[in-house]
Order: sequence, then structure tokens, then C-alpha cells
Amino acid sequence: MAIIYDNNTRTLTLHTEHSTYQMQADKYDYLLHLYYGRRTEGCMEYLLDFADRGMSGSPYDAGSDRTYSLDALPQEFPVQGTGDFRSPMLVVRASNGAFGCDPKYTGHEIVRGKYSLEGLPAVYADDDEAETLKVFLRDDRLGLDVTLLYGVLPSLDIITRSVIVTNNGDDNLIVQRLGTACIDFAGGDYDMITFCGRHAMERIPERQYVSRGAHVIGSRRGASSHQYNPFVILTDRDTTEEAGRCWSMQFVYSGGFSAEAERDQYGQTRLQMGLSGEKFAYPLHPGESLTAPEVIMCYSNSGIEALSHSHHKCLRDHVCRGKYKDSARPVLINSWEASYFDFTGESIIRLASEAAELGIDMLVLDDGWFGTRDDDLRGLGDWNANEDKLGCSLAELIAGVNKAGVRFGIWMEPEMVNEDSELYQMHPDWALAVPGKKPVRGRYQLVLDLSRKEVRDWMYEQITSVLDQGNIEYLKWDYNRSIADVYSQTAEFQGRVMHDYMLGLYDVLERLFVRYPDLLIEGCSGGGGRFDAGMLYYTPQIWCSDNTDAIDRLLIQYGTSYGYPSCTVGAHVSACPNHQTGRTVPFATRAAVAMSGTFGYELDPARLTDEERLSIRSQLEEFRKDEELRRTGLYYRLTDPAKDICAAWAHVAEDGSRAIVTAVLQNKHGNMTNMYFRIRGLKQGAFYKVSCSLADEEDRVLPADALMEAGIRVPRVLNEYDCAVWHLEICDRM
Ligand code: GLA
Repeated sequence: MAIIYDNNTRTLTLHTEHSTYQMQADKYDYLLHLYYGRRTEGCMEYLLDFADRGMSGSPYDAGSDRTYSLDALPQEFPVQGTGDFRSPMLVVRASNGAFGCDPKYTGHEIVRGKYSLEGLPAVYADDDEAETLKVFLRDDRLGLDVTLLYGVLPSLDIITRSVIVTNNGDDNLIVQRLGTACIDFAGGDYDMITFCGRHAMERIPERQYVSRGAHVIGSRRGASSHQYNPFVILTDRDTTEEAGRCWSMQFVYSGGFSAEAERDQYGQTRLQMGLSGEKFAYPLHPGESLTAPEVIMCYSNSGIEALSHSHHKCLRDHVCRGKYKDSARPVLINSWEASYFDFTGESIIRLASEAAELGIDMLVLDDGWFGTRDDDLRGLGDWNANEDKLGCSLAELIAGVNKAGVRFGIWMEPEMVNEDSELYQMHPDWALAVPGKKPVRGRYQLVLDLSRKEVRDWMYEQITSVLDQGNIEYLKWDYNRSIADVYSQTAEFQGRVMHDYMLGLYDVLERLFVRYPDLLIEGCSGGGGRFDAGMLYYTPQIWCSDNTDAIDRLLIQYGTSYGYPSCTVGAHVSACPNHQTGRTVPFATRAAVAMSGTFGYELDPARLTDEERLSIRSQLEEFRKDEELRRTGLYYRLTDPAKDICAAWAHVAEDGSRAIVTAVLQNKHGNMTNMYFRIRGLKQGAFYKVSCSLADEEDRVLPADALMEAGIRVPRVLNEYDCAVWHLEICDRM
């Protein structure tokens, strides 16, 4: 049993293989958080510190007991209104304007399997892989019922959380804030690691000490955002990749969010994650419910890499769905950096023929094939092929590409509209805009109001009518601006629009998933502006960044790897000088970096040298040979590319039988010092045949323990931006 209730202590304990989580319904029926850490038995009530809390308040039920204060006690679901002045998970306002609620424990239920959430993406698992705990809280005065949901996946050390609030009273309530997960740490001294950035430089790790006050990241942009990823880690101050305690939260949601680590007056730390409170005020009429999107949590006492491995497995096996969940993804050639808006049907067929000749699987026709879109000023919303530009119909183009020998994929940005489009002329009110206020434009476009059903139905029909025109096996789903103006023409209450927009998006994506189970959708948002576990439920890969420069990608993919597995990371080889940075990087390095993601090309092979074209063939061969190892192996960050000259990482088969280690030299200096990096994840005591991609490095048989203890030597022949790739295979000692 992963979930246990002890009637004597009124504790609920959740066990995974290596962790334990415990809560307790106390004498006043408040639900206190007792423990989240390494696996243990017993009751952790002894950790509670009942001291005279002076100026902190006490609940009425506690009478004159000043040692009982919810301002100081660790809680499972802290709400506003109980005298806890730290950041609450729930803020409710009644119709008379009064704030506050006071939900108390009323019971619980333990069920086999993993709960699912209506209308929202969530971790799924077979009944023998997971258990669910439902804890019921009730505020009698308001008639407000709160169900706390916990999903336990023991073998992955994963615990998920969600919350459903239901108005079973007769007042019209407004939910002003709803968090999903909260962990109160009664003691300790922590760092918080967040993944921050900007367009073309996403998810760069940042580690900071959690001092007094609230350390908050999040997104108010209507998308999870380039700027802050909805994945955070709390660690002890000395925790490293390989050792130490750490806790994580990952939001299964693609819209606005907030994540916060708050250190309070008593040195306690509250970590929480949930919906953004910005422009949020969700009406809850009698009988209505609101569900908080899911948070995936993990604990490790063996460093951050173990945490990453759990999240990787959870996303790969329990969030991603469909045909490509467990199979090789097609190697793509994407037309964007090959020709931007400047193409014809003929040039696309030529690109397809070249791709076929090189052995590439699929051509993706990016932006510019529809409406009057020859630049990014116009056309979004008009999803009819521009036959004048293509010189043929879309159906003919698809057939031509297939005939040339590759599969066909297409780009759409369904959530958007340009003012210069037929759609906007017909339905200006379908764009989100505040009446009387000139809307903020982003890339010259406005956002369609997906909170409206008729807009979603129209969108679904547009997408299906494109997809039904031929053998389209891939869709790149783009989203290239933030939501600035929040006003829906039909919403009874504007505070619900941001969240209803996301529910609307998920509704359309789900309908498409049901209708096209074999379609591969790649998410995208100006590159990686919506790279989150919510999108991965519908799109098993996401274009990681618009920055295809292999050297910048070292850091971007390094940061991304903390929370997300390689198989979700869209990565392509592009031309040099690179279009975003102007940098020139060896072809082999560009390929080695892209192979750590979904792999593909984003260039025009006709502009390559014969030698480069030949190397594409060998790159494809190399990629396909080890595709499964890269997709399913455990990922190890061997160095930190923000600090170390040599960026190195490894994919290691879970049974330790094989590994691929990649290293890129980011800088060259005169008279270089010796450089080594340690490999991890190999089988102790074993020997490995080690072959290096560099011509003058001989194959050797080397001991795993030395490779993990002293490391591998970075070859001196490497020049700036060169790479070396080692293949390791377990073997007999020679
Ligand atoms: C975004 C995407 C790019 C490309 C362009 C097309 O920037 O991230 O990959 O599809 O849009 O306009």
C-alpha cells in the first residue's frame, strides 16, 4: 500500500520507493503537513513546535491557547482567513465582499489507480502503478467543499497534487487565488533553482538562497513563458547533482502560473505552485467547481540528477501520449530557416527531393503557405492554402512531397489572427481586446478568444480541414505572442477568461488527439515559450528554442534537461553563420547537440558543400543507430556549461550496458590546462569498450570506476566549438 491511514494518530502517509509524505488531521480538524523526505516509517507529529506565538493569531477553537497558531504551523492547504499571513493557496470572496474561508478536514478516500482531471492534462497510470488519495475539507459557513487530490507513483518517486473547490452553498463566490501544491518546511536553510530566460535563450538555471520574504517567479503572459519555466527545485544549500536533498514542483499547465518559496518569521519555508493570481477572479456559483491544474512533485536525497530522472520518466511514460510516446520520431527538415516566407510549391518539392536523397524522413512546411502571408504582417486566421504562391493546391503539394520520398508535416498558428485577414474582417470580436482600448499587438497579431465555444469550433474545423487535405503526419502548433488584453465579449466575468482560454485550448487539442491518434504534434511558442508538462500531454515534443546556435543550445538544453527528457526537446541542425547569433560552429558539433533532442535539419541542403551533404548521411546513420538509447536512456549533466569550458553530458542505458557521452569545447586558450570530466551512471566494477569520434583517439577498454572517479580526458586536439562523442559498451576485461 502506497497510501496508509492511521486512525490513532489521524495521519495519512504516502510512500514512494524512496520518499515519504505525511499529513495529519489535528484536534481542531486542521490538516497539518508533517513530513516530506526520505522514506521512513512512524508518525512525524513530534516535529511540530508549539511555542507561544505572541502576536500571531489563533483559531477561535483554540481558545486561549497562544501556542496554537496557523501562522506558524506547517499546513497542507493553507488558506486566507485562518490567521496564517504567509502566502495562501486559496483566497475566496463572498458576494458581500468579505474575504476568507476556514475549511476543515471531514474525511478521506484511498483508491487504486491515478485520478484524472476533467478538461485538464494530468499524469496517467495503470491501476497497478498508482494510488490516489482524496482528502475532503469543508467550510460549513460558505458551503465550500475542497477536495485535495494526491496521486502516488511509488516506483518513480512521484507524488502529484490537484485541488477541486466546489461551491455547495447558496452564495455566489469568487475564487481570487487557487494554488495547487504547497510544502511547508518547518526547518532548514534552502536554495531555490528556477529556469529563467528570454526568447531565444530559455530555461537558464538560476540558483538563489531563500532568505526572508517571498521569492516568486511566474508568468502573467497567458503562456507558461520564455521568461520563467513552471518547474522549480528547492535544495539544501550544499546539494549537488549527485548528493543531497532536493524537492521539485512541475506544473502540468501551459498558462499563467506562480511559484514561490517564502521564508517566514520563524525560519520556516513554504514552497508552492499554482495558477497565476494576475487578472484572475473565478466566479463560483452554487453547484459549480473549479479544478486546480496538476503539480508533479518529487523528492530525492541523492542529488538533483535523481530528481531529473524521475521527472523524465514521469513525463515520457505518464504524460506524453499517442503513437510517438514509445517510438522513434521522424527526422525532420523544416523549411523555416531554409527559406523563411520565400518559397514556392516547386522549391518545397525540391527541398523534399533533396531531403529524401539524404535519408531524412519528413519535410515540414513552416509559416507562409496560407492566406496572403508573405511576411508576418498578415494572414493569420485564413487557413486556406495560397495556391498562387504554391502554384498548386495543398493536396497536390502534399502528394508531391510524398512522391519525392518524404513524409509531410505542416505549420499552423491556430490561436492567432492578424487584423489584415479575412477572419478579422468577419469576426473582429473574436480577438481578445478591451472595449475602447487599443489592443497591444505582438508580432502584429491578436489572440483569438478561445474561451468562446464558437471560436474553438471554428478553429477545430479549420485545423481538420487543413489536415484532411492529404497525408499530413505532423503539425507544428505555434503560438507567438503573449496575452495582454483580457476581455471576452461573451464572458459573464472577465476574471475567468485567462483560465478558460487554457481550458479551451486543451479542449481543441484533446478533440484533435481523439480524431488523429497517429498525428505527431510539435508544440512551439516563439521557440520554447510554452515548454511545459501541460503541452506535453498533447504534443510529445516541443521546439526548444528559436535559437539554433549549437553553442547557445548547450546552455538552453542543459537547463531544459533538469525537468524535461531529451525526447521532448525539439532540436535541429541549422546553417552557419547561425541566423540568430552569426556564429560558425563545426557541422559535427551542430549535429551532436541536435542529436540530444528530437533531431532534424533546418537548412537548405542545396547550399551545403558535397562534404557536408555526405556528413548528413553519416549523421543520420549515427542518430538512428543510437536513437533508442538517446530517447530512453538516463540523462546525466556531466558539467555545467555556464561555468565549465567543456560542456559534457551523457545518455546511459538504464541497465548500464551502453552510454553515449558528448563533449563540446566552448573556448580555447593558449597552453590549455588539463581537462577531465567524470562520467556517471556506469556499472560499478564493469569494464567498457570506449570509442571516440575523433580519428586519432584509439578504442580502449577502460574501467567504469575510473571513468566515474577520475573521469575521461578531454582531447587536446579539440578546437573552439569542436565536439567529441564517446560510445561506451560494457565488455569483458581484456
Ligand atoms: C516562430 C517559431 C519558428 C517559426 C516562426 C514562423 O518564431 O518559433 O520556428 O515557425 O514562428 O513564423
